[in-house]
Amino acid sequence: MTLAAILTTAALGVAGLASAQGIVANCTWQNGFMQDSFLGMYCNNDNWADYSYDWTWLDTDSCLTNYDGKLYAYNSGNYWSTCGNCSTRPSPVDFVLYCECLNHNGTFTPTTYDLNTLVYNRNGTLGCFEYLGNKTRKGPF
Ligand SMILES: *[C@@H]1O[C@H](CO)[C@@H](O)[C@H](O)[C@H]1NC(C)=O
Ligand SMILES: *[C@@H]1O[C@H](CO)[C@@H](O)[C@H](O)[C@H]1NC(C)=O
Ligand SMILES: *[C@@H]1O[C@H](CO)[C@@H](O)[C@H](O)[C@H]1NC(C)=O
Ligand SMILES: *[C@@H]1O[C@H](CO)[C@@H](O)[C@H](O)[C@H]1NC(C)=O
Ligand SMILES: *[C@@H]1O[C@H](CO)[C@@H](O)[C@H](O)[C@H]1NC(C)=O
Repeated sequence: MTLAAILTTAALGVAGLASAQGIVANCTWQNGFMQDSFLGMYCNNDNWADYSYDWTWLDTDSCLTNYDGKLYAYNSGNYWSTCGNCSTRPSPVDFVLYCECLNHNGTFTPTTYDLNTLVYNRNGTLGCFEYLGNKTRKGPF
């Protein structure tokens, strides 16, 4: 896979999900966090009469790939095995993932990806591409 192919696929993937995005708009990004590669937070479901939020987990390993030390949106990307020291910095406008990822020199280099441009909320469940996480009524807090 060439970098151009990955970038093209990534761009198409993001464009295809444009209408379904905005986890910071529909989820409680304030207490969202990562546990290993799993992203967890409360997201609003479609049942607005209920005003209910569900806790949802999504394995972000399915959402991103590491190409030469940089993160890209990629279906079944499996970035997790070649990245480390990942953390998130949530805000009202983006949800940035910070990692150190292995480049072709065998060096871990810092890289970021705004998960808010990729991960969507479908009725209270986080997803990316065709992957949907799970949800439960009760969260960790
Ligand atoms: C997201 O929020 C917008 C605006 O508040 C609302 O119109 C939309 O239905 C919400 N989507 C979900 C999946 O909760
Ligand atoms: C994570 O950070 C620690 C401390 O800065 C560093 O020693 C370690 O090599 C890093 N690991 C990865 C996988 O980047
Ligand atoms: C990789 O190593 C080469 C030569 O050692 C160096 O010129 C280049 O800047 C390095 N690239 C990265 C991304 O670290
Ligand atoms: C959306 O989620 C709510 C609460 O989890 C559930 O009651 C409802 O059946 C779901 N709607 C659909 C269309 O799956
Ligand atoms: C949801 O996924 C997480 C992470 O894999 C797991 O720990 C949890 O038990 C799952 N919850 C349900 C209700 O399946």
